[in-house]
Amino acid sequence: MAKVLLLNGSPRAKGCTAAALEEMIRVFREEGVETELVQIGSKPVRGCIACGGCGKLGRCVFDDLVNETAPKFEAADGLVIGSPVYYGSPNGSLLSFLDRLFYSTSFPKHMKVGAAVVSCRRGGNTASFDVLNKYFTISGMPVASSTYWNQVHGFSAEDVRKDLEGLQTMRNLARNMSFLIRAIAEAKEKYGLPRVERGSFTSFPDGK
Ligand SMILES: Cc1cc2nc3c(=O)[nH]c(=O)nc-3n(C[C@H](O)[C@H](O)[C@H](O)COP(=O)(O)O)c2cc1C
Repeated sequence: MAKVLLLNGSPRAKGCTAAALEEMIRVFREEGVETELVQIGSKPVRGCIACGGCGKLGRCVFDDLVNETAPKFEAADGLVIGSPVYYGSPNGSLLSFLDRLFYSTSFPKHMKVGAAVVSCRRGGNTASFDVLNKYFTISGMPVASSTYWNQVHGFSAEDVRKDLEGLQTMRNLARNMSFLIRAIAEAKEKYGLPRVERGSFTSFPDGK
């Protein structure tokens, strides 16, 4: 059974982002896709300190929700990242979480399907959406899309429930994501995963 992991970056477990993710979860159930929702919550999440310890340990040196979530991400065929907009960006604890989750894990993320979902009251949604999508596109993860950018509007979950187009966007996104996951699984069987080259690591134009 296909599996999707959903992350809610909001400290508000029953807020706007949760309402958007719940709408997706309903569709995933209809589509026969298993889901697991991880709340980043309101506990402190520290940022990456670039110590390189994960390269030796195979996990982050800070043993918290990041390390707990890593095996769930590894087992998932798709990842949905949901975030409220804080000053035109995804919320800070989510960004700290994602930097450490993506940097400290070496399992292949290649061809896991990604989708970002943002919730704002008024603005800053598309900038936040762009930031989240970059975690996928640097990791070989195809990005699922919908009938509009994946956003809902509101200050409370009740507001989001009135955002009919936002909810429609979430439902279409979940259907498209389910389809992509199934299509990729079939293609993997038929052709195998595309080859990945990793020999070059150039920080300077002369390659040294
Ligand atoms: C610190 C902070 C900064 C915010 N900045 C923005 C913003 O830049 N633009 C906006 O439209 N809403 C902003 N908001 C409102 C939230 O993004 C919005 O209410 C969102 O839907 C809340 O989602 P949640 O209930 O899942 O946390 C901000 C809220 C907080 C707490």
